[in-house]
Amino acid sequence: MESISSDIIVENPPQEMMKTKPNDDELGFGTEFTDRMFLQEFKGGQWQTGRIMPFQNFSLSPAALVFHYGQAIFEGLKAYKHPDGSVALFRPEKNAQRFHRSAKRMMMAPVPEEFFLESVEKLVALEHEWIPRKLGTSLYIRPTMIATQAVLGVKPSEEYYYFIILSPSSAYFKEGFSPVKIMVSDKYVRAAVGGVGDAKTAGNYAASLYAGYLAKKEGYSQVLWLDAKENRYVEEVGAMNIAFVMDDIIYTPPLRGSILPGVTRDSILKLAPDLGYKVKEEALAIDVIEEAAKSGNLTEVFGMGTAAVIAPVGELKYKDDVMVINNGEIGKITKDLYDNLTGIQYGTRDDPYGWVKKIQI
Ligand SMILES: Cc1ncc(COP(=O)(O)O)c(C=O)c1O
Repeated sequence: MESISSDIIVENPPQEMMKTKPNDDELGFGTEFTDRMFLQEFKGGQWQTGRIMPFQNFSLSPAALVFHYGQAIFEGLKAYKHPDGSVALFRPEKNAQRFHRSAKRMMMAPVPEEFFLESVEKLVALEHEWIPRKLGTSLYIRPTMIATQAVLGVKPSEEYYYFIILSPSSAYFKEGFSPVKIMVSDKYVRAAVGGVGDAKTAGNYAASLYAGYLAKKEGYSQVLWLDAKENRYVEEVGAMNIAFVMDDIIYTPPLRGSILPGVTRDSILKLAPDLGYKVKEEALAIDVIEEAAKSGNLTEVFGMGTAAVIAPVGELKYKDDVMVINNGEIGKITKDLYDNLTGIQYGTRDDPYGWVKKIQI
C-alpha cells in the first residue's frame, strides 16, 4: 500500500485567476485559501503522481465511501515567516508520523512520511507569499485524505485522494491570546480507549459538535472532555490538549489511546522543564481539580494545540461549579510558555531542539 511515484507535477494557475492576498489585520481562521493545492490519487494499489494545481472543487461520485462510512483523516500544521524572510515549519515530521498512524488505524493507504513532507514543503514554497507576518498569524496547512471509491458496503476503500490546502490565518479563538471559557461535558464523551480518539479522523470532530453547541449556548468556547469509562478523568479539549498548574507543577493527562497525541503538548513537555518548571503526565480527576480550585491550589489552566498555540483558560464550568482561574487573567507560566514556544516558531528565539524546519523557497 505504500508505493509512491516520484516528482510532483506543477500546474500553475493563470495570472488572472490569482487572488488578492488579504491584509494580516483582516485574517480570520480557515476562511480563505491560497491559489494552489496539492492532490495525489491512490488507485490500482499505488499512489499516482502528485500534482500541484489551481485550488479547485472536486467531482466525486455520491457513492464515494467517505460520504457513507467516514474514512477521512487530516492534519494541521503551520508555516511561519521569520524576520529574515525565510520560511519555517514546526516539527512537520511529527504530523507526517501522525498522518501515517491515523491512516493505518482507519484502514486507509498510508502516505510515506518523506512524501508527506515533500508535498507540504513544495506546496508551501510555491505559496510562500501568502504567509502573513504578524505575530499570531501564519499559513495554516491542512493535509487531508478521503476514501473515494464509489461502492456501497462497509469495507476499506481501494481508492483515496490525499490533498493539501493552505489558509492564511490569524488566531484560532476570536479572543486571540486571552483567556477562553471552557465547559466540562458531564454527559457526552468524545472517545473511549480502544476507539479512534488518538487518530485525527473526521468523525471525532463530528461527534463533538453537539456538546460544543450546548457549551456555546451557555457562552463557553469549547468543551473539556472526561473519560468514557468513569466520566471522571480529564481528557482534552475540542481542538487542543489541556494542562493544569497545581502547586507549581504542570499536569497533563497521559496518552492512553483516547486523546490526540498533540505536537504542541509534546513540545511543552520538553520545553517546560528546560524553563525550570516541573511537569507530570498524570490522570486527573475533575473532583480533584474542583478541590484544587476551591483551595486556591489551581493557579493556571491552559490548552495546547497547533491552531490554538497556548490558550489560557480563564473559566471552567463543571455541572453547577464555575471555577474562575487566576481571576480570569493570563497566568505567568502560561505566558512564559507561550512566549518561548512562539519565539521558536516565529524565529525570534533560539531553537536548541532542532524543531524548526526551514524550507527552500
Ligand atoms: C482533539 C485535538 N486534540 C489536541 C490537538 C492538538 O494537537 P497538535 O498540538 O498536534 O495540534 C488537536 C489539534 O490538532 C485536536 O484536534
